Amino acid sequence: MTIKIKYKKYWRKTSLKQEGVGDFFLSHIEKIKPKNFLEIGIFHGVTSRNVCDLLFSIHGDNFKFTGIDLFLTESEISKDEHFPKIGFSNPLKTLYYKYIIRLEPYSIESVEKLLRKYKKNINIIKGNSNKILKEISLDDVDYVFLDGGHKYETVLSDLKNLEKVVENNGIILCDDYDLTYAPGVKKAIDEYVLLNNFNLKILKSRFAEITKNST
Ligand SMILES: C[S@@+](CC[C@H](N)C(=O)[O-])C[C@H]1O[C@@H](n2cnc3c(N)ncnc32)[C@H](O)[C@@H]1O
Repeated sequence: MTIKIKYKKYWRKTSLKQEGVGDFFLSHIEKIKPKNFLEIGIFHGVTSRNVCDLLFSIHGDNFKFTGIDLFLTESEISKDEHFPKIGFSNPLKTLYYKYIIRLEPYSIESVEKLLRKYKKNINIIKGNSNKILKEISLDDVDYVFLDGGHKYETVLSDLKNLEKVVENNGIILCDDYDLTYAPGVKKAIDEYVLLNNFNLKILKSRFAEITKNST
């Protein structure tokens, strides 16, 4: 399958950095063609930007993208949240963000800047998914990329809050299923699908796709 958009890194950090993983992810979205996308855990906003580029190429202006992230400072991040390293290993990137554009890439301002082309379509929310998911409307959400907190309790709580999306025939795609250093992700997903009798498909040995059981 030829995909409309190739995954780009926008000179930032992203979860989907391994060769082929970003393109696989975009091809999955391209098949589903969601119109109301939710990403939990947006970090530098690279995946968010790629998703908006793709949805724009499919639907023109007729799509919505919501992103939620804690946007913590380094000192606020607890060790057991399996938090990605904020700093760049490439010193040129550090200099670029610190002295040239003077923007911390892991911040709501920087993500909004990266997504400014889609200003009318996006809603970027700073906060904890455990709380925000109870406050926003999930009625029209048809695709969730769950890549926020990786602790068992956080993943389970997010999944429980997203039950309506699956019940409405939407999809939840979880990243990092079966990650050795974050076993809580798999544990929460396995328990959740069993409890709700949802379908679970593992894709590319890392994504867990959760859908409603049609039988
Ligand atoms: C692995 S990164 C996300 C990477 C991003 N999806 C990408 O593709 O590049 C995880 C993000 O989840 C956020 N996060 C962790 N726990 C969270 C929570 N409870 N609510 C909202 N965001 C959370 C962190 O701040 C971090 O930016």
